[in-house]
Amino acid sequence: MTQQTHPHADTNPLSTSAFLQREQQATLDTPRYPYSFLAKVFFFGMDVLAGKKDDLPKAKLLEILASIPYRVWEIRHYVKQTRQYRNHGAVARAQDVISWGRDAQDNEYLHLRVIHEKMLADGIRDKWYLSAFVSGAAVLSYAIIARTMAFFSQRRAFLFNAEFENHAEGVYARLVVDNPQWETQPVDNPFVKQYADVDTWADVFRRISLDERDHMNSSFAFCGKAEHIHQYEGMPPIPNPPSHLA
Ligand SMILES: [Fe+2]
Ligand SMILES: [Fe+2]
Repeated sequence: MTQQTHPHADTNPLSTSAFLQREQQATLDTPRYPYSFLAKVFFFGMDVLAGKKDDLPKAKLLEILASIPYRVWEIRHYVKQTRQYRNHGAVARAQDVISWGRDAQDNEYLHLRVIHEKMLADGIRDKWYLSAFVSGAAVLSYAIIARTMAFFSQRRAFLFNAEFENHAEGVYARLVVDNPQWETQPVDNPFVKQYADVDTWADVFRRISLDERDHMNSSFAFCGKAEHIHQYEGMPPIPNPPSHLA
C-alpha cells in the first residue's frame, strides 16, 4: 500500500456542503446500474450475512471487502510488468491499473477507519459477522472470487467492481437520508477531519458516497463501458480514459 493520503483534507471546493448535498441528490435520483446475476447473488449474500438493513456495521463489512479487488489487481499487474518488462506499452497499461488500485484501496481503508471512528463515537458495537473468524472467511471468499474473476476476465472483474461501487454509492447516499441526526452532528475527530474537512457527519458520509462513485467511474472506464460513467462538475480525472473522454 502507498502512504495514506487524505484527498479531501484541504479546503477543497469539492468538499463543501452544498456540493456534496447536490451530488448526494444526483446519486439518489440516478437509477442503479442494472446489476448482473452475479452481482445480485453477491448483494444477496451480503444481506444474508449482515441483514437487509444498511447500517454502520454492515458498511464496515462492505469496506473490509472493498479494497480486496484493487489489491488483487495490483499484485497481478506487478507480475505482468515483470513478465512483460520488454514491452513498454504493456508495462504502462499495467502501471495505470496499479496506480489506480493503490489509490483506491488506500481510500477504501480510510472509509473503514472513518466508519470505525463514528461507531466508537456513537457507542455502536461490532456485530457478530465482524468477528475475526467470520469477516476473515468473508475476506477469503471474496479474495478467491476476485482472483478467479480476474484470472478468467480482467474486464469482467472491472465491471463487477463497477457494480459493487455503484451499489456502495447508493448505500451511503441512503444512509445519510436514514440518519437525519447526522446533519447536525459536528465532526471534531482529527482523523476524520483529515479524511474530509467538513462540518457534519452527514457530509462525511456524502463524501464517502462520492468516493464510491469515483471508484465506479474508473471501473467503468477500465472495462470499456465509458457510457456508464456518471459525469459531474469537478470530477477527478479518470485514469487511462477512453479517447472520447480524454
Ligand atoms: Fe469505500
Ligand atoms: Fe469504493
